Amino acid sequence: MKISIHNTLSCFLLVVNFLTSTFPLLLATGDGGGGGSIAFATLGRSSYAFDIYALPTASPSKEIRLTDGNSVNFNGYFPSSSSLSMLPHLPNNSDPATHLVYITERNGSSKIYLDALYDTPPIRSGSRSLVESSAESTRFQVLLVGDKQSGGRVSMKDKPSLVGQSLIYVSTHENPGVPRASWAAVYSTQLTTGVTRRLTPKGMADFSPAVSPSGIWTAVASSGEKGWDGEVQELGTDVYVFLTRDGSNRVKIIEHGGWPSWVDDSTLYFHRRCEDGWWSVFRATFSTNTGRLDVKSVATQRVTPPGLHAFTPAASAANKRFIAVATRRPGSEFRHIELYDVVSNEFLDLTLPVSPNAHHFNPFFSPDASWVGYHKCRGATSDGKSNDLVLENVQSPVPDISLFRVDGSFPSYSPDGERIAYVKFPGLYVMNSDGSGIRTVLTRTAFSTAWDWKRKGVVYTSVGPTFASESTKVDIISINVDDEDLSYKKLTSGGENNAFPSPSPDGKWVVFRSGRAGHKNLYIMDALNGEAGGLYRLTEGPWTDTMCNWSPDGEWIAFASDRGNPGSGSFELFKIHPNGTGLQKVIHSGVGGRTNHPWFSPDGKYIVLTSDYAGVSAEPIANPHHYQPYGDIFVIKSDGSGIQRLTHNSYEDGTPAWSPKFTSPTNVEWPNGGSKCSFDDCHWLNISPDQGSSSSSKRNNKRGKSRKKTI
Ligand SMILES: *[C@@H]1O[C@H](CO)[C@@H](O)[C@H](O)[C@H]1NC(C)=O
Ligand SMILES: *[C@@H]1O[C@H](CO)[C@@H](O)[C@H](O)[C@H]1NC(C)=O
Ligand SMILES: *[C@@H]1O[C@H](CO)[C@@H](O)[C@H](O)[C@H]1NC(C)=O
Repeated sequence: MKISIHNTLSCFLLVVNFLTSTFPLLLATGDGGGGGSIAFATLGRSSYAFDIYALPTASPSKEIRLTDGNSVNFNGYFPSSSSLSMLPHLPNNSDPATHLVYITERNGSSKIYLDALYDTPPIRSGSRSLVESSAESTRFQVLLVGDKQSGGRVSMKDKPSLVGQSLIYVSTHENPGVPRASWAAVYSTQLTTGVTRRLTPKGMADFSPAVSPSGIWTAVASSGEKGWDGEVQELGTDVYVFLTRDGSNRVKIIEHGGWPSWVDDSTLYFHRRCEDGWWSVFRATFSTNTGRLDVKSVATQRVTPPGLHAFTPAASAANKRFIAVATRRPGSEFRHIELYDVVSNEFLDLTLPVSPNAHHFNPFFSPDASWVGYHKCRGATSDGKSNDLVLENVQSPVPDISLFRVDGSFPSYSPDGERIAYVKFPGLYVMNSDGSGIRTVLTRTAFSTAWDWKRKGVVYTSVGPTFASESTKVDIISINVDDEDLSYKKLTSGGENNAFPSPSPDGKWVVFRSGRAGHKNLYIMDALNGEAGGLYRLTEGPWTDTMCNWSPDGEWIAFASDRGNPGSGSFELFKIHPNGTGLQKVIHSGVGGRTNHPWFSPDGKYIVLTSDYAGVSAEPIANPHHYQPYGDIFVIKSDGSGIQRLTHNSYEDGTPAWSPKFTSPTNVEWPNGGSKCSFDDCHWLNISPDQGSSSSSKRNNKRGKSRKKTI
């Protein structure tokens, strides 16, 4: 395949840095918390080798791959030929050609690309064919929207549509300034000038935008003024419609619905979880007149029946008889794309016969409705790269901090920054900080890692199950990973959920949490001989204190606690002197919020942490399962001020650690490569929901919305 990459269409992007000066980075170069590298983990992400595929609706047997097998590519959109003809500097529209707009996470940040695929030499095979990514095709790849169009700021991009010369999409680059408010908002970028405007009103979050066939209207899923209440399954959004031109004439047309998709300018489909527990697709019809939508005319009707989940609908102006949906059926573990005939009320399989044992996401139609696109994990393909990276470079908003996603949990750097310890259930591993030399050092289930500051090669961890009760047997051990026999020393003796060890910089003590007194509180023990050599209680109360980290200057221990509302699942960050004085609340992410996993910067002036401060960035059902899709990585000053978001995605990021050494951000592949493509569909898409559930069982259902993060 020949590839021609137009990294930026320079003539497309005349106005690029128009917002940069208004939003200075809180941590400027030279003040980046002492700089260095931050490593963190993202649930499942290394398995998301997503590419975009398509199937012809008439003979759904030959699936073709459209994206290039690099990175993670998803949420595609087929632009109309009228829209493409308005874009200058695209290669000539020889027939047949495939044009695809999509989200990609290549090179460490979320971007919107346009790929054009041509057969070379041109093969005329009629309008019903798409060009496949193959040895015979030529690909033109164009970056449509990246950080530049977002004022130079790193952000998540999502759900693109191309209308005329404008791209409509979600971006998370503006901080609403309120804890637990999503940063997701819909923007329009005029591609020929680069001028970007926000279409979502300030103070609101919009997800899943869809543009009507005429381009006049855009529909979104929005929580409106209600904001985000911590929900991680169905966000309980409403559907709003506004003028694509400028976001004006915004009206709520549907109470409770998401993922809109238009048939024509007065009909759209959307999904919601019904009272009977099944996710179903609905149709809404309404009348519009001279730029106004008559809210009183809106009528809605359930379209897909109970008995299976059907969601993320795609409709087409070219064939109003069919919609494409993702389904989860009783008896199937996998999410498939099906057509639904809205006249005969019949489903037609699309992806089941082609790849029965894969999850397929977020269908979309070609302009003539003869193809349905979607994304799925590519598995092993000849020219595709796995996304199986030991270390993935993630673009950092702070210039002198290098950001890495580690394919393992609870990474920690050795004091000199040369090595990383991490866990991957069930086992503890050590590698060099450039991703080389991976070694297994423990083959039991362990969680959390920390290196001794003085004794080279000594790593602390807790052995036993995570997310367990106070009395569960979990003990802290230290292992010298440089010893040939890898012998380890048990430092706690009584079980009772002893975990999250963090050593003092003088090498003498280890702070940890323990459930030994009936609640998880903090204790300090002798680093060499464990609790037998000395044990002090640091915090005490009928609540959970956990995830402690000792500052590099020895003065503070930061930790997460639910003491404000014990058992609620809401965690705030505190710090306390090792002698038990000076307790201070550092940060609280709003009422009911979560801030966990604190880790001090090498100079002790900053803390990196995981939080729900930026809410949820996409409808969770449009993604694989994440227990906590709100998890992002943030940096604060150690007094809790100046919060800055480091990661932007709809995944579950967590467990950051900070090293003094700046490691050049590059991707490092697993030596044995090959994506396993094994990840879970949303756990809460249970396939035997309470039939005819009462409102109380529905509430219970909601209450089970998130695993309590009290590990
Ligand atoms: C595109 O078509 C125009 C007019 O037919 C021609 O002048 C131009 O060379 C073509 N460009 C490419 C890249 O083929
Ligand atoms: C971006 O990533 C691709 C692989 O996905 C790589 O081939 C390319 O060199 C990278 N480009 C830059 C500018 O780093
Ligand atoms: C406790 O530790 C802090 C910080 O090292 C120190 O400032 C303070 O004087 C100590 N208090 C007591 C009672 O020892």
